[in-house]
Amino acid sequence: MRTLVTGGAGFVGAHLVRALLDAGHTVAVLDDLSAGRAERVPAGVPLYQIPLEDRTAVDRVVAEARPQAVFHLAAQVDVQTALRDPLQDLAVNVTGTVNLLEACRKHGVERVIYASSAAVYGAPAALPLAEEAPCRPLSPYGASKLAAEGYLWAYGQSLGLTTTILRYANVYGPGQEARAEGGVVASFAARIVQGQPPRIFGSGHQTRDFIYVTDVARANLAALEGPGGLFNVGTGQEASIRELARLFLEEAGLAHLEPVFEAARPGEIERSALDPRRAQAQLGWTPQVDLREGVARTLAWARAGSPMEADALCRLAGGRPR
Ligand SMILES: NC(=O)c1ccc[n+]([C@@H]2O[C@H](COP(=O)([O-])OP(=O)(O)OC[C@H]3O[C@@H](n4cnc5c(N)ncnc54)[C@H](O)[C@@H]3O)[C@@H](O)[C@H]2O)c1
Repeated sequence: MRTLVTGGAGFVGAHLVRALLDAGHTVAVLDDLSAGRAERVPAGVPLYQIPLEDRTAVDRVVAEARPQAVFHLAAQVDVQTALRDPLQDLAVNVTGTVNLLEACRKHGVERVIYASSAAVYGAPAALPLAEEAPCRPLSPYGASKLAAEGYLWAYGQSLGLTTTILRYANVYGPGQEARAEGGVVASFAARIVQGQPPRIFGSGHQTRDFIYVTDVARANLAALEGPGGLFNVGTGQEASIRELARLFLEEAGLAHLEPVFEAARPGEIERSALDPRRAQAQLGWTPQVDLREGVARTLAWARAGSPMEADALCRLAGGRPR
């Protein structure tokens, strides 16, 4: 199938592009490289370096690439940036998304698969969060991801596209830079390879649902075949930041070290986990890489010098499935 991946030069996008190529699909990438890297895009894959906000350029790319399916991952992903400048976040994540959807409608794209986030839920009343849980985002980033979801629904209901919304938990793995959303794993890996203990903000008892990046890529491929709709992409398991630090220290052979603690950062939720059962039932998708294995692979990548080049990334992200 002919596919277009927006954000394909980014962390998750790079792994998705590789998975699509491996499955025999044709891929083009749209990315303005504001946070992405051209070297993450494999040789031979066309890279259109344009911003989502440029409606005419987005239209031209879709007309030229003629994708049957579009994976929409490009986004302003930084929560702090969104807090500082909600209008910029809105322009990329909402207007940019509608620019893309319009081009898709005009040029006969059949299916759009959108990368949404656990951030749309806000503070959970009960865990793990099912898709029906109320959405009360805590940040403008969560609000813009949720607003974009609304447009996906509308285009799915009334404007002729088949749309799928995938709400990712905290994605981690080779290729992630410490600044990105969910970057605690990347930050631990970067410190450990320098022989420094993980740095924990707050008590470390806060929990997250860590999902390995190749599992997220697989969920996107499953969505290509499955029915449209809304699906959590997580493990359903909570892991505390202390537990994560312990795994890193054990895998690195540094179990004698203790993490260092710093003041909690404001605005962080205490606990999070996404219930993946709907994706299991309707897309036939389950996560395959557990946290210890994912940490080991991420550490191996960091030890190899944190390469960003597409082939190295892909090789280091692989390994034994659980
Ligand atoms: N990493 C996570 O833990 C996580 C969790 C939940 C949801 N997500 C979602 O997954 C998607 C991918 O996230 P990621 O972690 O790979 O982030 P990333 O920053 O590595 O990738 C985003 C890509 O989008 C590109 N981009 C940004 N603004 C753009 C614009 N205006 N026009 C064109 N391209 C633009 C960037 O250059 C980058 O390559 C995002 O939509 C994000 O909201 C990520």
